[in-house]
Amino acid sequence: MRKYNIAVVGATGMVGRTFLKVLEERKLPINNFYVFASSRSAGSTLTFNGQEYTVLELNENSFKDHQVDIALFSAGGGTSLKYAPIAAESGTIVIDNSSAWRMDPEVPLVVPEVNAQDILKNKGIIANPNCSTIQAVVALNPLHKAYHIKRIVYTTFQAVSGAGMGGYTDLKEGLQGNPPKKFPHPIAGNCIPHIDYFLENGYTKEEIKMIEETRKILHDQSLKITATTVRVPVFDSHSESINVEFDRPFDMEDLVDTLKSGEGIVIEDNPSKEIYPMAINAAGKDEVFVGRIRRDESIENGVNLWVVSDNIRKGAATNAVQIAQWIIANDIIQENK
Ligand code: A2P
Repeated sequence: MRKYNIAVVGATGMVGRTFLKVLEERKLPINNFYVFASSRSAGSTLTFNGQEYTVLELNENSFKDHQVDIALFSAGGGTSLKYAPIAAESGTIVIDNSSAWRMDPEVPLVVPEVNAQDILKNKGIIANPNCSTIQAVVALNPLHKAYHIKRIVYTTFQAVSGAGMGGYTDLKEGLQGNPPKKFPHPIAGNCIPHIDYFLENGYTKEEIKMIEETRKILHDQSLKITATTVRVPVFDSHSESINVEFDRPFDMEDLVDTLKSGEGIVIEDNPSKEIYPMAINAAGKDEVFVGRIRRDESIENGVNLWVVSDNIRKGAATNAVQIAQWIIANDIIQENK
């Protein structure tokens, strides 16, 4: 079996470390393995598959020198903007977790359960969607196919790990009474309705990402979508209230069956036994958990869902590794070289 040279860029970060964990768990066929970060952590070591790897400082020759086949990036938008094209030029396929390339029409934006075939259109860069978008579209895709979505109202309750190590530290320190460094306000005991920066129309960039990325992944620019994204004092896993209006009428039992048969979805929905998806249960898992499924009685063809998933795993690292697995399974690297 062919083995691949795989690199992780931003390997010392929150998502980067989880890339290593998920790559280990999923036993990818790896020949040489490289971990890159900035000069700040170059020279330190990370353990992968029981072996110590020295963190290398990323530079313009990193991909060519090491003949990297697949590079998983999570080192911020600036690093991706600069280095992803350099990597692609050297024949590396980049799977980029930043938002830098997501809306580029030449770059596929992929959630394997939804639009894996889009990977075939890559020109060296594949974008991993925003964490909140990934879990939402895994749940919405089967419903869109069955009943055709007309409008979506997203309200998110997002974990601090989505803001990287700094977010995690802010909550930990905040619980000890210390002031925030990453967030603009204390997050302990608080909800902050502000993720990423504000745009002129009053939405945050995070909200616009959810709206635009959902349309791109579901291949439907006609979808009406609005969103409110909120940072909450939870360490891991994003929770989302999703209100959906369909064009077609639906039967509730049929809708639940449709969700049940959707790839990557686990239904947790038994209110009488107090069973519903919760962040603490989703943490460390790869599935998208859906519950509180109930008809929206205020409109004709509407439903409410509560959707929870581990934002660092399915929302970032696992999704990227799944893309890498799809590339390997379909042997498409030759075509790009
Ligand atoms: P470093 O440890 O050297 O700062 P998080 O989002 O969890 O804070 O992680 C960000 C990741 O991106 C870290 O691994 C960080 O490395 C890496 N990173 C940041 N800037 C660069 C850069 N210019 N080149 C390579 N890696 C970078």
